[in-house]
Amino acid sequence: MNLSMNHHSQSTDNPLKHITALFLSLLVLSWSCGENQPQKLIQEEPQKKKIKDTKSVDSELSEITIRNVTESPITYKIQPSDHDKEPQKKTIRAGEIQRYPTRKDMHVFFLRENLWIRYTLEKGKPFSFRYDENNDLELYIGSHGREDAVDLAPYVATPLGVVETMLQMAEINENDVVYDIGCGDGRIVIMAAKKYGARGVGIELDPERIEKARYEARLAGVESLVEFRQEDATQSDYSEATVVTMYLLPESNELLRPILEAQLKEGARVVSHNYDISGWKDREIKYETVESWDGEEHTIFVYKK
Ligand SMILES: C[S@@+](CC[C@H](N)C(=O)[O-])C[C@H]1O[C@@H](n2cnc3c(N)ncnc32)[C@H](O)[C@@H]1O
Repeated sequence: MNLSMNHHSQSTDNPLKHITALFLSLLVLSWSCGENQPQKLIQEEPQKKKIKDTKSVDSELSEITIRNVTESPITYKIQPSDHDKEPQKKTIRAGEIQRYPTRKDMHVFFLRENLWIRYTLEKGKPFSFRYDENNDLELYIGSHGREDAVDLAPYVATPLGVVETMLQMAEINENDVVYDIGCGDGRIVIMAAKKYGARGVGIELDPERIEKARYEARLAGVESLVEFRQEDATQSDYSEATVVTMYLLPESNELLRPILEAQLKEGARVVSHNYDISGWKDREIKYETVESWDGEEHTIFVYKK
């Protein structure tokens, strides 16, 4: 996944914020389809990602899901990408997921400060409305479209050099039990097992990532030390963890904070990549900003219960 592609976000310091641009092509445009005429016209940008083989891509039916992770209702419009139908106006309640079975990519439009924002949504993918760090409404790639589980963050892997620093900062040793919340391909618990002999548990909703994590654990020869559980991390049991690692969005850290407070034993360390845990300033024992191989900056926060 190329995380360095141009994107519209004003912040450039964090790969999680970059991913929107990988699948979405942003056009801020004047849109003349009835009510709510935009008040400014911004030049259209060229599309950043084109679909190469539209025939084969269009043939299969799959589902786009749109989730509202904010606390208020949002109104947007949606239409198939070939424009053969008028955009439909929709309102999505806080917490709701709306589903669009489709053979085509779709365009979605929403208003931000009197400007219509248009994205092209890739079919088969989940998306989530959230507010960004400037409090602007934004549509992000989601991690899944499941009704029964929280969307904590889309999949973006922590670079291996940053994983190494996270584990060093947590002072992992062979007596530790490391839980990674939203473990992706399992790299954090696998490295903790291989390098320090620590036991590890990776919690992840996406079955493909779980499969990859198990494969990587076998390759690394640590399958007896690590375990991967396909479950919603907000429902997991963290009581045996001595170290918890996470690379999630700030609101997800906030959501998990009371769960960790209730379940973690005294002295357990929590290592968070890029986002601090609000309300835990008094538990913060260190933080450090490091550069990954691509020049990207990553901040690591370590807390102790
Ligand atoms: C930013 S990635 C981090 C991957 C890995 N921890 C790393 O640092 O390389 C976040 C992961 O959280 C997973 N995730 C999102 N919501 C989840 C949930 N409710 N329960 C478990 N995993 C979830 C996503 O599928 C994704 O793989």
